[in-house]
Amino acid sequence: MRALDFQTLDEPRILRSLRTQWIGRSLRIVDECGSTNDVAGKLAGEDAVRGLVVIAETQTAGRGRNGREWCSPRGGVWLSILVRPHEHLSSISVLPLVGALGIAASLSENWKVKARVRWPNDVMINKRKVAGVLVESKSKGNQLTYAVIGLGVNANCNTSKIESISNTATSLFTILGERVNREDLICAILLHIENFYESLSLSADRDILQTLRSLDCSHGNHVKVKLTDREVEGTFDDYSSLGEVRIMTADGFESIRTEAVVSVDYQSN
Ligand code: BTN
Repeated sequence: MRALDFQTLDEPRILRSLRTQWIGRSLRIVDECGSTNDVAGKLAGEDAVRGLVVIAETQTAGRGRNGREWCSPRGGVWLSILVRPHEHLSSISVLPLVGALGIAASLSENWKVKARVRWPNDVMINKRKVAGVLVESKSKGNQLTYAVIGLGVNANCNTSKIESISNTATSLFTILGERVNREDLICAILLHIENFYESLSLSADRDILQTLRSLDCSHGNHVKVKLTDREVEGTFDDYSSLGEVRIMTADGFESIRTEAVVSVDYQSN
């Protein structure tokens, strides 16, 4: 890893370090925007190539799941990846997990921190959220035109100073006690995500599932899952597949398809 720096992100430096085939090969870095998901979505409509990555130093209207605000101060990693999934991707509902896995695997392997995936889209360290994923997509008829995988990683920010998340979030800076090199972090995350995404395309779901189980922290947690048509409460048991999980309820096991999930509340154990 290079020495830590206080520099703003530099496109040529990132491109020189990037080891991916297609994710991030087209790169747009902006100082400030509303939401990188919106910028990537707009460029997708202007025929941007798959793999385009939009990164912002800060977002003024960053958003999380369920319309929640996502605080995006300088020092974090706020980026969106444009993908154009083909028919072989059975459902885009697995993309949040691919994003979360990519982040958790990078942090565990490259920064040796115990980062874990919390279904369906969170990355946790020491029971606090360090990163989240928001996937948004556009379809024409029943044909998916594109999807944008938005990643927010609290890298070099001080989450304890942000009142709305000070009790639930953490940052890499807090965990490691020093700043991380955000360019290295971005390159590592994009490479992991590309590898997981390619495995999906090759239908190697079983390999991803194995990695997911090794990096999961949802198992054993008490959850309340709001679905489009009902609510399920119980203990998170396991992933049946990448797109389906099993919850142990008072009446036995319930299987839940991720695409039917509106929101998930984790109750503290
Ligand atoms: C969540 O955990 O609720 C998802 C958070 C996703 C935040 C990222 S930051 C980059 C991209 N742009 C956004 O407005 N949101 C995502």
